[in-house]
Amino acid sequence: MTPITDEAIAQWRSDTPGADRAIHLNNAGAALMPVSVLQAMTEHLSLEGQIGGYEAAAEAAVGIRNFYEVTARCIGAQARQIAFMSSATEAYNKALSAIPFHSGDVILCTQDDYVSNQIAFIQLSRQRSVRLIRIPDLPGGGTDLDALEQLLRVHRPKLVAVTHMPTNSGLIQDAAAVGQLCRQYDSWYLLDACQTFGQLPLDVAALHCDFLSATFRKFMRGPRGAGFLYTSDRVLEAGLEPLFPDLHGATWTGPDEYVCRNDAQRFEQWEKPYALVLGSAAAVAYADAIGLERIQQRIQSLAATLRTQLSALPGIHNLDRGAQLGGICSFTLPHAEGQWLKQQLDQQNIHSSLQLRDGALLDFQRKNAAWAIRLSPHYYNTFHEIQTTTEAFTEILKRL
Ligand SMILES: Cc1ncc(COP(=O)(O)O)c(C=O)c1O
Repeated sequence: MTPITDEAIAQWRSDTPGADRAIHLNNAGAALMPVSVLQAMTEHLSLEGQIGGYEAAAEAAVGIRNFYEVTARCIGAQARQIAFMSSATEAYNKALSAIPFHSGDVILCTQDDYVSNQIAFIQLSRQRSVRLIRIPDLPGGGTDLDALEQLLRVHRPKLVAVTHMPTNSGLIQDAAAVGQLCRQYDSWYLLDACQTFGQLPLDVAALHCDFLSATFRKFMRGPRGAGFLYTSDRVLEAGLEPLFPDLHGATWTGPDEYVCRNDAQRFEQWEKPYALVLGSAAAVAYADAIGLERIQQRIQSLAATLRTQLSALPGIHNLDRGAQLGGICSFTLPHAEGQWLKQQLDQQNIHSSLQLRDGALLDFQRKNAAWAIRLSPHYYNTFHEIQTTTEAFTEILKRL
């Protein structure tokens, strides 16, 4: 792995117009885009303005095709297995809509699955009488794989759903081990990689997932309003199709007939924001040039330093649990309001995110926390920024 030098960090920061405006520790919300991403989008928008949206898309056909190729390559997939989506949630829900659930079918999910995914499971259990079972956690956090295997053996679930990294804490689940078990017990496996895409290397073959959903705006540093869905060949060959494919996903072949495309674009809609498609491709190319192993190493070391430094301050509780932790650091102050802490950080020009109980109900309940402040460094952040953040917390805590 190429070492991370001061010159490399200086280059990443000079490629990032927002890097010096604030201490941006909200990369799990939306990271700062590099200039190449901004350029790809503004150039395309300008072309649309000059020649028209359809004509601009035709002119950008090579770049648009490249989106599928670079996204696929980044996760070890094929271009035909990728569908552009407007968000990770759209990708996730389209995948869910393709699974033929019947009354009594079981969904196994984790204690830490993303809030919108949990809401979708609950709706499926209400509307289609699907049984939702949550896999217990290990005492130190993270899904208990022995318990998962036991549940797979007994319930033969239709679907196993795992959020690789939750929105509100540093836990990284052992998604590959879950995938191996899913193959062994022949369950569909849906992986929400929204927080890990762009943060660490992903390889769908090693993960053994059938669906993978993600967004570009978080650790991948792409634009808002852009995500993707990966589907395995098993999914495509089984003929799984989303609820309501449109004229892009399917062809109307007879008065009462249609056939779906044979690739993952059967999940996509015809109308797409091509500036965002091109911006997303530029983001993946930028990450690829740096290398995801390096990105992961740098994020983990910044996050570990932040966790250690803030945890040493009196009265602050770190809420991250699990054998492997990544680039989300979550903290609470038992005797303060989360909104107050967020405002204090805003005043210091430190970007953070306030996570509330209903965003991760089960996790907050067992940690007995009402809220958490989420700090999520990226590779372009510096150890100096981590130190400044620690000093800001030291001063803020004195005001309590
Ligand atoms: C783990 C996880 N999954 C899914 C989502 C939803 O992503 P989107 O807002 O792109 O639908 C988020 C957003 O924060 C997330 O953190």
